[in-house]
Amino acid sequence: MGREIATVGVVGLGTMGAGIAEVMARNGLRVHAVEIDAAALNRGRAHIAHSTRRAVARGKLTAEQAAELLDRIEYTVDLEPLAGADLVVEAIPERLELKRELFRRLDGICSAETIFTTNTSSLSVTEISVATSRPARVVGLHFFNPAPVMKLVEVVRTVVTDPGVLADVEALAARLGKSPVTIGDKAGFIANALLFGYLNHAASLYEAKYATREDIDAAMRLGCGLPMGPLALLDLIGLDTAYEILDTMYKQSRDRLHAPAPVFKQMKTAGLLGRKSGRGFYTYE
Ligand code: CAA
Repeated sequence: MGREIATVGVVGLGTMGAGIAEVMARNGLRVHAVEIDAAALNRGRAHIAHSTRRAVARGKLTAEQAAELLDRIEYTVDLEPLAGADLVVEAIPERLELKRELFRRLDGICSAETIFTTNTSSLSVTEISVATSRPARVVGLHFFNPAPVMKLVEVVRTVVTDPGVLADVEALAARLGKSPVTIGDKAGFIANALLFGYLNHAASLYEAKYATREDIDAAMRLGCGLPMGPLALLDLIGLDTAYEILDTMYKQSRDRLHAPAPVFKQMKTAGLLGRKSGRGFYTYE
């Protein structure tokens, strides 16, 4: 019988981490939400408060449920409160050394039983896991944006993952109302490996001025029945994140499909990161 997961740590409260913390708290888990400094912590808290208010306004949560949800989250800039967590989700920026360093520190703080998960989109879970003394208890737990809405999570196993840990993480995903799919440790896992060649191609079409952003997006929404067009989706994902994912997949496979279109780096450098910065392919309020 697997172990009951009641308390989790979520480290990193950007777009994904804030959404993950919200999903966890919404489903009855106690959450220690961690950011690097007070400003980032406040941004994460505001993101969760906004999303929760929106759920109440749309009749998805009662005001009482929203208050209970928010009560289950404790905010901190320290890792020490994670000592007794049953599971930690890491959702910090997509840089291998940063993630390895975080897990090295967590390894010294958390109980030997704590399961470590990473929300990485494209880095190697194996390389992250070996920064700890417990690689068998480290798995990928990859959510999709917006995390409170998208039903999929990818559970990523490595060659040393303990099958019991995998089962506990799959059970947690189901408890969160998600449908887990399990995959070995390859760049892009399933969804991004298939999605990002398409998104990259859409950015190239736009960059070469073959069509307007509206027409590229309309073609895929209205012609292929997708909920949003590729350029709007890139704005949702974040141009910086999209660039990192493409770059990592390209470096691993050298498949030109994933060679990032130059426009990604240019927009990233200019601070046009998509929705989160107010402007990407489109402009947001
Ligand atoms: N946070 C919380 N809830 C949100 C939300 C957010 N950021 N955005 C939308 N929602 C909720 C709304 O509250 C609404 O809920 P109800 O139906 O329960 O009332 C529901 O989602 C639909 O929202 P809207 O009516 O406002 O808008 P929509 O119908 O256009 O849906 C969407 C918005 C869910 C984002 C939809 O357009 C969609 O599914 N887009 C595709 C998203 C996608 O492909 N994501 C994967 C990206 S790849 C990735 O994440 C992997 C990676 O590693 C980068």
